[in-house]
Amino acid sequence: MKKTIGLSTIAIFLLGGNLLAQDAKTTVITINANEKVGDISPQFYGLMTEEINYSYDGGLYGELIRNRAFKDNLKEAEHWSLIKVGNSDGQISLDSIEQKGTALDRNLRLDITSIDSKGRIGIANDGFWGIPVWANAKYTASFYAKTSADFKGNLSLAIESNDGKKVFAQAQVINVTGDWKKYTVALNTGKVDTSSNTRFVITTKNKGTVWFSLVSLFPPTYNNRPNGNRKDIMELMAGMKPGFLRFPGGNYLQSNKIETRFDWKKTLGEVSQRQTHDNNSWHYHSSDGMGLMEFMGWCEDLKMQPLLAVFDGLTLNRKAQPITGDSLNIYIQDALDEIEFLTGDAGTKWGAVRAKLGHPKPYYLHYVEIGNEDFLDKRKTTDLRFPPFYKAIKAKYPNLEIIASGHVASKTDIEDMHFYFSFKKALNLAHRYDNYKRTDPVVFVGEYACREGAPTTNMLGALGDALLLTGLERNADIVKMSCFAPMFVNVNPGGMQWKGNLIGYNAVSSYGSPSYYMQKMFAENIGNVSVKSSITNVPIGADTTEQLFYSVTKDSKNGTVYLKVVNVADATLSATIDIKSNNKILTEGEVTILTSEKVSDTNSLVEPKKVVPKTSVAKGLGNHFNYSFKPHSVTVLKMGGK
Ligand code: AHR
Repeated sequence: MKKTIGLSTIAIFLLGGNLLAQDAKTTVITINANEKVGDISPQFYGLMTEEINYSYDGGLYGELIRNRAFKDNLKEAEHWSLIKVGNSDGQISLDSIEQKGTALDRNLRLDITSIDSKGRIGIANDGFWGIPVWANAKYTASFYAKTSADFKGNLSLAIESNDGKKVFAQAQVINVTGDWKKYTVALNTGKVDTSSNTRFVITTKNKGTVWFSLVSLFPPTYNNRPNGNRKDIMELMAGMKPGFLRFPGGNYLQSNKIETRFDWKKTLGEVSQRQTHDNNSWHYHSSDGMGLMEFMGWCEDLKMQPLLAVFDGLTLNRKAQPITGDSLNIYIQDALDEIEFLTGDAGTKWGAVRAKLGHPKPYYLHYVEIGNEDFLDKRKTTDLRFPPFYKAIKAKYPNLEIIASGHVASKTDIEDMHFYFSFKKALNLAHRYDNYKRTDPVVFVGEYACREGAPTTNMLGALGDALLLTGLERNADIVKMSCFAPMFVNVNPGGMQWKGNLIGYNAVSSYGSPSYYMQKMFAENIGNVSVKSSITNVPIGADTTEQLFYSVTKDSKNGTVYLKVVNVADATLSATIDIKSNNKILTEGEVTILTSEKVSDTNSLVEPKKVVPKTSVAKGLGNHFNYSFKPHSVTVLKMGGK
C-alpha cells in the first residue's frame, strides 16, 4: 500500500516506548509483508560462464600446462622452451606424427645431440603465468611419448624455479620406448612456500630423439574430480549459492565462424580425443578441456541447474548472413542430440554415448537457451530462426523451458536481456521493470555488469549492480533469473580481454570483487517471495537523481522479512520503515553492510578483502522504526517475526 505524506503531515509512530516523529521530508519505505508480488525462483541468482579472460584454460580448469597439445600456434611451440644445463646440446621443434585412435596430431620433438654427464637437457613449459606451487600437494603429471631407437634411458619430471635452482617436486619415468604410450606419475611437494615463479620440466641425460604429445599436469581438484576444477575458485562460486550456470556462452558459443563455434560433440571423452579449437571470439586457443560433461560436473559439484545455450545459426560475423530455412536443420538436430545426450536414458542413441563416457544417470536439464544475443542480429532473422528451434525442442521435450536470446514475435517461455552499463545509467536501470508490461515474456537477465573498475569492478560497480538487482527483486513476478558477466579474469598482463569482471586470480590465488560480495549478500538473504512495498520522499541528489533504492522479500515459511537498501549518496541517509505484517517483527535482527570509504575502493590479489560485508546484530527494529544507511552502502536487514 502506498503511503503518501502531504507537506503538512506529521505522523507519529509508537516504537518500544519511543516516539518517532515523521515529517514531510522523512523518507518512508512502506512494506506490506502480507501481500505477495511474486514467487522468487530458486534460480533467481546464478552464474554465467564462457572462455573469456582465461576463464578455463589459465583459470578454473585445473590443467597447469599451457599449449599442452601443441595446437595453440601451428608454427611454433608457444610456452615451451629448450633447457640445457652443462655442455648438453640439442633443439626442439614442432612435429606432426599422428597418434592413431586419438585427436593428437601435433607433437614436440626433442633432438639431443650431445649430453654432459653432469648436466641435463629437456623441455620446459611456463604454464599460465607460472606453475602454481603449494605445500604438501600431490600433482598428477602425464604425457604421451615415443623415442628414437638410439635413445636409451629415463626422463625426469619436475616443478622447479624458473632458474632451475630450486626443485619443488620431482619424479622419474623409466624405459620410454619407440611406441607411443601414455605415462602418468605423481609429483609431491613437501613443506615449500607458495610460488608461481616456476616452470614444469621434462629432462634427460641421454642422446637421441624424444617426441612428446599432450603433456599435462593437474593439481588436486575440487571434489578430486578427474580433469576437474581449481579448488579456490570453486569455493568462491559456492559462496554465492548459485541456482544455475549459463554456459557455454556468450560469444564463445557463437564465434566468428561456424567451424569455430562451441561444437559440443568435439568436447567429449578423454582429452586425447579432443581436437581443441580456435576461440576466435576472444582471440586465444581453447584446449576444450572444459567440455560439455565438465560443465555438467561443475553444476553437480555446486548443486546448480545447467542452463544450456545451443548454437542457433547466428555467428559474431555481422556481415555474414545468419543461417535460416532448411540449412538450419542440422543445427536444430545438433541441439536435439545435445539434449538427448544430457537427458536421454542409456537406451537412446546419445544417452548411450553419455553412459559409455561414465555418466549412466541422465543429467537434470530444465532450461535451454537458443543462441546468444540474437537481439544484436542486424539482419533481423531471429524470427526465422527461433520458432523452428522452439517447435522441434518442445515437440520432443515439452517440459523444457526455452529461452529466446532476443525479442521474438512468436511464443517463448523466457526472454534473455543483457545490460552492461555505467553507474550513472544504473540509476535508471533500477526502474527498468517497474512498469514492464506483465503480458510480455518472463525475463532472464542473462548478462549484466556495472562496468566500473578493471580488471574486476570496484565499490561503485557494486552499487550500480545492487541498483539493478533491487529492481529485479521488486519485480520478481516477471523477472525469474539473473547472472553477472563475465565471471572470471586472469589478472596477469595479457589475461584480460574484457574489463569489469567479478572474480580475479593468478596462478596461486583468487579474490572476489565488491560486487561478488554484494551478490553473495543478496543471494543469502532472499526468501521465496517478493512482497508489496513503496517508497515516498526519496532523497534526491544535487544532480536530481534518486539516492536511495530498495527491495523487500520474505521467507513465507518463517516470516523473515529481508529489506535491502542501497544508499548511493556520500552522506548518511535515514528512512522510516513501516511494516504491515501478520507477524510482529522482532526488535532484534541482523544487519549486513557493504561499504567503503571511497567508491573507487576495490579488492585485488594484494588486498583481497579490502571491501567485504560486515554482519552484526541490528537493534531497534520492529513494525515501525527509523534506520540510518551509511554513505555509499548496500545494507541488508534480516528481520524475524513471531
Ligand atoms: O560478457 C562478455 C560478452 O558480452 C559476451 O560474450 C556476450 O554475450 C556479450 O556481448
